[in-house]
Amino acid sequence: MSKALIKHFSKTLIAWHKQSGRSGLPWQDNRDPYAVWVSEIMLQQTQVATVLERYPRFMKRFPTVKKLAAADVDEVLAEWAGLGYYSRARNLHACAQQVVNQFFGRFPSDPLLLEQLKGIGRSTAGAIAAFAFLERAPILDANVKRILARLFAVEGPLQDKAVNDRLWQLASDMLPSESEHMPVYTQALMDFGATWCTSRKPVCIAGEKKCPYLKDCQANLSGQVLSFPQKVVKAKSPEFNCDMVFMRSSDAILLQKRPSKAIWGGLWSLPEAPWKARTSAMESLEINAKELLALALPDEKSGALLKSSSKLIRGEQIKHVFTHRRLWIQIWELNLSKPYEFSGSDLKWVPLRQLGRYGLPQPIKVLLQKLSLARGDDLKN
Ligand code: ADE
Repeated sequence: MSKALIKHFSKTLIAWHKQSGRSGLPWQDNRDPYAVWVSEIMLQQTQVATVLERYPRFMKRFPTVKKLAAADVDEVLAEWAGLGYYSRARNLHACAQQVVNQFFGRFPSDPLLLEQLKGIGRSTAGAIAAFAFLERAPILDANVKRILARLFAVEGPLQDKAVNDRLWQLASDMLPSESEHMPVYTQALMDFGATWCTSRKPVCIAGEKKCPYLKDCQANLSGQVLSFPQKVVKAKSPEFNCDMVFMRSSDAILLQKRPSKAIWGGLWSLPEAPWKARTSAMESLEINAKELLALALPDEKSGALLKSSSKLIRGEQIKHVFTHRRLWIQIWELNLSKPYEFSGSDLKWVPLRQLGRYGLPQPIKVLLQKLSLARGDDLKN
């Protein structure tokens, strides 16, 4: 790699950021490692517009790493509700405890140490080190991979270890030589990938020849910009079916805390029967009430529960799309004349007005809102 290209790349990118980068965002120009870390985790799978709304609220609720570590994980999950990818919230809480217990409440500046913490991958470690500690640490998120794959016409699918290793090497080679430039350079890389060197409509092919790297970019010079990085053909995500019991007794509904390793781990949801792979015959399947209750609440004497109840009624069917699967949820409603005492601590009758205190999976929250079971304010974020 020529020194001239390296210098030109970072200098040009920083100048670009001045003109066209994103600025004035609440987590920018803040070198507090805690604030940087929270914003980077929140921004990982969530759009900037949403983070703009939710980040200040999170920081107000948990202003320091010590406060976050001392909170109950349920409080953190409830505050995270609606942002999705809840393992981020569980990891955030666990990571805060690691920082307090292992690092006396101060984030380490070394990206290799940051990467040892819960929920912090190599690229996020690089971003925190660069933003908070001005470390010359590279980042390599999907946007940066795209920029570098185009600039150097890197062939091969991104999942290949050799391709990944080469991109990390390039990301490291391209860093500015002076560490004081690291925050703006890192932000500029992210912004350039998100707004100019985009996946489907990069500015170089969108009619405007304004990209500052037109003469450097190997993919552009060969007229192959959209061929980099190499696309992977994704298989259609599999579909699943599940049945959930929506049990109600006067002003309370029955919630069940989900195991931490499962999807929506740690959130409170409706008791459910195990998921089944969806088949075309599914629509006509009738589930037997007793069978469903025995599957959804295996530790309970569901027979006795059924006797004391009126009939199970088929409710809504909800489709929920995850990144890697699609789920069809059939709701079954059961109205009880009096609350049934459950033995398991993962089951709880929750008064409607208290639902807002519980982290609920998004489709369940929407369902409860739709059924007007809670006053708007209770379930609002
Ligand atoms: N995505 C991850 N980190 C980000 C940041 N600092 N700014 C904008 N988008 C991001």
